Amino acid sequence: MSGKFYVTTPIYYVNDRPHIGHAYTTTLADVLASFHRSMGDDTYFLTGTDEHGQKVENAAAKHGISPQQHADETVVRFKELWQQLGITNDDFIRTTEDRHKDVVKEILQDLYDRGEIYKKDYTGWYCVGDERFFTEKDLVDGKCPECGREVTALKESNYFFRMSKYQEWLIDYIQTHPDFIQPAFRANETLGFLKQPLADLCISRPKSRLSWGIELPFDSDYVCYVWFDALINYISAVGYRRDDAAFARRWPASCQLIGKDILTTHSVYWPTMLKAMNVEMPKTIFAHGWWLTGNTKMSKSLGNVVNPMEMIGIVGVDAFRYFLMAEMTLGNDASFTREALMRRYNSDLANDLGNLLSRVVKLTLRAGGIIPAPGEPTGNEEEFNAAVESAVKGMRNCLEEMKLDQGIAAVLSAVRAGNRYVEQCAPWALAKNNDIAHLNTVLYTVAANLRKLAVLLAPVMPGKMAELQKALGSGDELLTIGDLLSGNCPDPAGRTVQEVAPLFPRIQEEEAPAAPAPKAEKKEKAKAAAPAPEAVELVTIDQFCKVKLKTARVVAAEKLEGADKLLKLKIDIGEAEPRPLVAGVAKYYTPEEIMGKTIVVVSNLQPATIRGAESRGMLLAAKFGKELRLVTVDGDVPAGADIG
Ligand code: ME8
Ligand code: MG
Repeated sequence: MSGKFYVTTPIYYVNDRPHIGHAYTTTLADVLASFHRSMGDDTYFLTGTDEHGQKVENAAAKHGISPQQHADETVVRFKELWQQLGITNDDFIRTTEDRHKDVVKEILQDLYDRGEIYKKDYTGWYCVGDERFFTEKDLVDGKCPECGREVTALKESNYFFRMSKYQEWLIDYIQTHPDFIQPAFRANETLGFLKQPLADLCISRPKSRLSWGIELPFDSDYVCYVWFDALINYISAVGYRRDDAAFARRWPASCQLIGKDILTTHSVYWPTMLKAMNVEMPKTIFAHGWWLTGNTKMSKSLGNVVNPMEMIGIVGVDAFRYFLMAEMTLGNDASFTREALMRRYNSDLANDLGNLLSRVVKLTLRAGGIIPAPGEPTGNEEEFNAAVESAVKGMRNCLEEMKLDQGIAAVLSAVRAGNRYVEQCAPWALAKNNDIAHLNTVLYTVAANLRKLAVLLAPVMPGKMAELQKALGSGDELLTIGDLLSGNCPDPAGRTVQEVAPLFPRIQEEEAPAAPAPKAEKKEKAKAAAPAPEAVELVTIDQFCKVKLKTARVVAAEKLEGADKLLKLKIDIGEAEPRPLVAGVAKYYTPEEIMGKTIVVVSNLQPATIRGAESRGMLLAAKFGKELRLVTVDGDVPAGADIG
């Protein structure tokens, strides 16, 4: 019956602390791994960190420490967060570990010996942010096709992996293996990309330009390109070239989770690398969408990242995990708002799930504290039982089809059917009228069904669902989904229920929306009918006031070397020294035109280095069509005046 399941997450860059996007992928992997463990599969869950390359070297330089030291410090933040989130990974790989580096070197040497890697002169365009080389035709408007930033021309000697020779093979493989790249529209996206001739992949960096990487075993003047190094973690961690039995037990991976931002590296580089190594393909590479803040991607440079630790502090780890899993339809983007988090918490968890448990525990305690054997059917059981059965039966399918949100929604529908059942049967009245046969049926039905639902949600909310089962007298013997599917569940009748504090006490938030939350049932239907529109996110006065706007006088302006869109300004905002500010307005204003103007700036933006120039603040401008005009103030206002 049971099979094997090996799930991986991307290994995250240690250039910065983790945010909700990283928390999401790792939680998703954890939930999938937990589901498979609960179904009895031989499960293995790998995560880790990507520690080489330009980004990490730059971040370390910014902090004035060595890249290794920087990695050592940042990796702790990831490990701490995984602990906070209750992540049950079996291994954590760091690409600076010898067990990884040695395998990468062996692979490089082997590919070089077999002529899969060769040296040539090359001119390309390089995006520092993405650490990627692009050919002329890859560029969009002369900019990085991935992120839109400026690229730099580079000519040098480098080593190349013969990726191009696998193009036809890859196209065919993707077409004949519909599970390989998921969702299907991402497979199409990859096939679209493969319509253009595929170039060979530059896999080296001269040490003169970048020294932080794995040295090429056949040329000590070079280090390995960070992506070529990083992708190998998925096999170096499970025994490739080291322990054949261990490797055969885990590989091929069942599910390699990634965000859509790293689709090409995983759907083109990785398969062709594996092919050249004669290693089997993973069963599925699954790209999920992005968590957005409002309509924009979260990113540190935009200053709109959601800190997962803060959210855990508000609703607790289980509810946060629940929100992440229930709110995102796998494959699509989802918008993170605190209001949506509170709404899910208060409606699904406090009102529906928590309430059903409180009800059955209270009623059972009043009737003596023991879950009774069922008496006469009340005639109302059908809908509730059917909803529970369909949630149990549907979960495996939802997992296989990566429709976790639907699996969870089915459980919540069953919970709501449970609350309706209690209301229809009115057990409090049955108790009052001494209708014990019917009362026993109600108490038993709710306890038995709720226990099953808790088992289904345990991979998502391990802590709270264990509490729930214990409240229903499970002791330490927690059921698994395997037990549910095989019908091998000991009868709950005869167990002693435990008094419990509310599992999910309601949270009143000042900023909770005034309008009542839509009924969850209705919401499910609306969601099925049409994709949720991107909501306009409302902010509170408090949130707005965090942004400190000030007037500023431009006291110096010049073009920024090598960047045709940027002006390098000095602005007076009423401080002792004028501040540097880099602004993307060079296409609309000459330095002469902008000099002396009184503009509006965000004064408390995190400082950044843009194309080598320091920038502290951001100016405001109106954009319309291809035009851009600066926001200025009416009348003679001194520099440094507060705006708000
Ligand atoms: O790309 N929404 O690392 P990285 C959802 N080191 N998921 C998000 C997200 C968001 N807004 N932001 C990040 C790298 N993620 C490489 C990977 S793998 C061999 C090397 C998640 O630190 C998502 O999983 O930039 C995305 O793919 C990953 O973090 C990128 O993490
Ligand atoms: Mg990234």
